[in-house]
Amino acid sequence: MSDQPSENTEAAGGMTGGEGAPRPAADATTGAAPQGAGTGGATAVGAGTTEVADDALLAALGVSKRFGGLQAIAEVDFVVRPNAIAAIIGPNGAGKTTFFNMLTGLYKPSSGSITFRGQDVSRARPDVISAMGMSRTFQNIRLFGTMTAVENVLVGAHARMKGGVVGSIFRTPKVRAEEKAGRDRARELLTEVGIDTRWHDHLAINLSYGDQRRVEIARALASDPSLLLLDEPAAGMNPSESDALSALIRRLRDDRGLAILLIEHDMKVVMNISDRVTVFDHGEKIAEGEPLAVRADPRVVEAYLGKQG
Ligand SMILES: Nc1ncnc2c1ncn2[C@@H]1O[C@H](COP(=O)(O)OP(=O)(O)O)[C@@H](O)[C@H]1O
Ligand SMILES: [Mg+2]
Repeated sequence: MSDQPSENTEAAGGMTGGEGAPRPAADATTGAAPQGAGTGGATAVGAGTTEVADDALLAALGVSKRFGGLQAIAEVDFVVRPNAIAAIIGPNGAGKTTFFNMLTGLYKPSSGSITFRGQDVSRARPDVISAMGMSRTFQNIRLFGTMTAVENVLVGAHARMKGGVVGSIFRTPKVRAEEKAGRDRARELLTEVGIDTRWHDHLAINLSYGDQRRVEIARALASDPSLLLLDEPAAGMNPSESDALSALIRRLRDDRGLAILLIEHDMKVVMNISDRVTVFDHGEKIAEGEPLAVRADPRVVEAYLGKQG
């Protein structure tokens, strides 16, 4: 139901959650290591699965999450390959957002492992995972309503600023130049996701719902990710907005070489853009494959329709 993580100190990041203020921690730099170059990388995932993990950007192996007596995610294996568009679908309460929260470090798995860019991130902090190149948007829009669109994007770029504390206080020329460059970059990102320039300096709260979702995507792009996670990006959009969103997601993959993982209920979006669809039901992965095959799978039809009858 809720995508408000109640564990892990997400509150520190305010509305922006794990993407808010990634610190340039020492371990953040190791995330840039090429795949397979690390010592504790893909081979640590487990015997017999190294083949899958080797060319994976992201690999979850036997991941489970328990909340008290509730098994929210049960033994899920899941892979995202570089430059792929992958979708997770499933009824409400299936565990989709919980799974995202584990991938991004907001929740720790009860068991199992998660590997990103060849490194085990099962117990890594959200800011470390973000600095390694995984970015997300949230099921419920989390923008700062009283900040402009540009300022909201700057929040996502925070990790890339290098002026330092002293420079920030005295606003040295270097810092001012960096701020200017940051704002210019934020405008470029807003334009890239399709926000008209006349909205860039408006408060986020005054933008249309569809544009607010786009600002969130721009903010997620500001940290220059290699994997973008979108939790129900088309929710609340009208058909023309969701068509435009589909085109944007495909463009981000094609032009930026991004891998994209989305949770989505809008089947038109899912069928149009996904290379691979995974279906969750009651915390279990019940089907996976190409979109048309998955849609025709009797277990999937049952998960969606069986409960009504
Ligand atoms: N922080 C939490 N504490 C307890 N239960 C939770 C928490 N987060 C999610 N859940 C429960 O886990 C199940 C899966 O929820 P969720 O991952 O939000 O599903 P989905 O995103 O597929 O709709 C639900 O029963 C939900 O109530
Ligand atoms: Mg959800």
